[in-house]
Amino acid sequence: MSDLVDFTKRGAVGVITVNNPPVNALSVGVPQGIVEGVKAGNADPEIKAMVLVGGGRGFIAGADISEFFNPPKEKAVTIFDVLDALEASDKPVVAGVHGNALGGGLEVALACHYRCGVASAHFGLPEVKLGILPGAGGTQRLPRLIGPERALPLIVSGDFVPADKALELSIIDLVVAGDITSGAIDYANKLVADGSNLRRIRDIQTPKPSSDAFFADFEKSIARRARGFLAPFNIIKCVQAAVDLPFDEGIARERELFDECMKSEQARGLMHLFFAERTCTKIPDVPKDTPKKKIDTAAILGAGTMGGGIAMNFLNVGIPVTLVERDQEALDRGLGIIRGNYENTAKKGRITQDDVEARMGLINASTDYQDIAEADIVIEAVFEEMDIKKEVFAKIDEIAKPDAVLATNTSTLDVDEIAAATKRPESVIGTHFFSPANVMKLLENVRGAKSSKETIATVMDIGKKIGKVPVLVGICDGFVGNRMLHHYGREAYKLLMEGALPQDVDGALYDYGLAMGPFAMGDLAGLDVGWRIRKRKMAELGLNRSDSPVSDELCERGRYGQKTGAGWYRYEKGNRTPIPDPEVKELILAESEREGMKRRTITTEEIVQRCMYQLVNEGAKILEEGIALRASDIDVIYANGYGFPRYRGGPMFYADRVGLKSVYDTVSKFYDEHGEAWKPAPLLKRLAEKGETFNAQNPGR
Ligand code: CAA
Ligand code: NAI
Repeated sequence: MSDLVDFTKRGAVGVITVNNPPVNALSVGVPQGIVEGVKAGNADPEIKAMVLVGGGRGFIAGADISEFFNPPKEKAVTIFDVLDALEASDKPVVAGVHGNALGGGLEVALACHYRCGVASAHFGLPEVKLGILPGAGGTQRLPRLIGPERALPLIVSGDFVPADKALELSIIDLVVAGDITSGAIDYANKLVADGSNLRRIRDIQTPKPSSDAFFADFEKSIARRARGFLAPFNIIKCVQAAVDLPFDEGIARERELFDECMKSEQARGLMHLFFAERTCTKIPDVPKDTPKKKIDTAAILGAGTMGGGIAMNFLNVGIPVTLVERDQEALDRGLGIIRGNYENTAKKGRITQDDVEARMGLINASTDYQDIAEADIVIEAVFEEMDIKKEVFAKIDEIAKPDAVLATNTSTLDVDEIAAATKRPESVIGTHFFSPANVMKLLENVRGAKSSKETIATVMDIGKKIGKVPVLVGICDGFVGNRMLHHYGREAYKLLMEGALPQDVDGALYDYGLAMGPFAMGDLAGLDVGWRIRKRKMAELGLNRSDSPVSDELCERGRYGQKTGAGWYRYEKGNRTPIPDPEVKELILAESEREGMKRRTITTEEIVQRCMYQLVNEGAKILEEGIALRASDIDVIYANGYGFPRYRGGPMFYADRVGLKSVYDTVSKFYDEHGEAWKPAPLLKRLAEKGETFNAQNPGR
């Protein structure tokens, strides 16, 4: 028996237990152990049934993703042998699930004759999130078991369902109380006593969908969201095959479509991000066992755009929040927006009205700073002015308890200067949330020169607890994400001057996979914010033109973006679809002429390269300066904070896959053509010359 799987006898039931911490992935050795367990159970005349359970945290979390890139050298027993052994067993096998049954784990459970789980168990086929599809019969067995109309959305979303929902969907047959092994054994004994037959899902005829147009309609429903992404469309084909083809032919089709996904760049990109999002929480000089402060209460200063959203993250996980504003009016406005957001979520059926009240009930709204005295973490989200931030931090320092974490949500200011306003800079750190803060996953935690390891460990930990993807960054103008974005935005503007129009640039980047291009994004965020910053800078430097005169002119004309019905595009009332506007074209042509540009047609390829390679070149500088710890951290930042297509793995990974030599050559060519803004980053040059990549450490590289 493999040492990753146990076989024990409990009366007339053989118990096969997988022990492959931390998540019982199906690594080499596990399939062999399960097959041997099934054999042992069938060979023993005293055994009447078997149960398959996971030891430790859960059942089985699926294939070992790291083995996709480092396949075992010798021929090993595979998951397919496990499925065959389970399905062919002469004695009933019951899957007993606690924790998670995911991917190949759920596929193994579906090859068992019966399934049960504890109430806290979760079930899912998340392969799509890795750019692949359930390749061990999941797309053929699940539709047979629960019908294609219920199976398809589950497989395409990759969402997990809890045990009660799994029971309702008939994915499992029973929810058991108490310990999973005992519950599954009792269930197996009952099945034997009742003389239950061996239920093999492969023998079920898949029910037909209620409408002939089901698959075509489903495809239409995801067309925009999943554009350019292979796996969801291949999943639709697989489930259609489960309806149209006999089981074995369906399995062959699944294999073919799985292989196509597995060989794709998209799967590489997504698997890179899977590991990147786990690696980013590991800080070399802040080991895992660094003490963390317990965060049971939070105080947030400022209930504006960001403060309200930040508060919601804590409320959503049951952490009470003291929300402090300058005056009652601002406080009421902030509370109204939070309530409105929750009410909308309740209207969509995602939470109940009781949840809304429970979350609102966790807010202690105040206009008195003294109320922050007991908070474990204080997060400042007031106006972006250094003098105000310093004054606020001096006040926090007087009131907050000695071991509180003091965090600032500043997006541009120097965290060290803010920390210096207190007598405890070691407790100060940046927590840079992204707008809308209750939605965006990214949290850039900004390490100050004096931030203590305990402070860092605490904000990384609480970030995860409130559902964010926390990435530690250093101090520089714009930190990682916005600093890179500045270069990308500047290049996009240059493209307008050289010959493109906003819809050309946005269209090319949208087709590349971005949620939206820079001009549509500007209209959404509001052009007036940047305009005010530019005006202030111009006044400070005594300049009469900014580096973005067309944007300035748009604002002078009251075109602030979607909120005023016009910006880089115009908008019909109540509609967010950007419509190209001749007035904007005229402005661009005039400015282009004023700059003496000879306009030319710019290809989609050039647009994508110019915008992406600006990100990459600046990313390389950020890496070399140590502002980001790893290239994969930058990828995590772009995938979670900037709508970067996840299936491309992030900008640095994308560059690796293009090949750094090719990227460097193109950047050098742009340097010759366009000058200083394209000066190649020394790190890019070095890696290109050595034939290396940015992401050398992750299995998905
Ligand atoms: N393969 C390899 N390693 C895995 C893994 C897997 N399937 N799942 C988790 N891990 C590793 C993580 O990388 C992490 O390692 P480090 O501690 O070294 O960083 C460790 O296990 C713990 O994982 P998390 O930090 O994610 O732990 P969590 O408790 O927050 O989440 C989980 C647990 C929900 C299982 C989550 O890890 C997860 O979603 N895993 C992936 C599940 C999945 O996608 N399964 C499908 C695999 S593909 C497949 O099965 C194909 C097929 O058809 C056969
Ligand atoms: P906002 O103007 O919407 O909200 C600021 C709030 O702070 C206002 O409600 C104001 O009344 C309140 N306030 C001002 N002084 C205060 C004080 N002394 N005590 C208590 N409350 C006070 O601004 P927004 O957009 O929420 O920004 C807040 C911070 O978050 C800024 O530092 C900003 O740079 C940063 N940020 C903003 C992002 C955005 O997209 N808006 C993104 C990331 C960070």
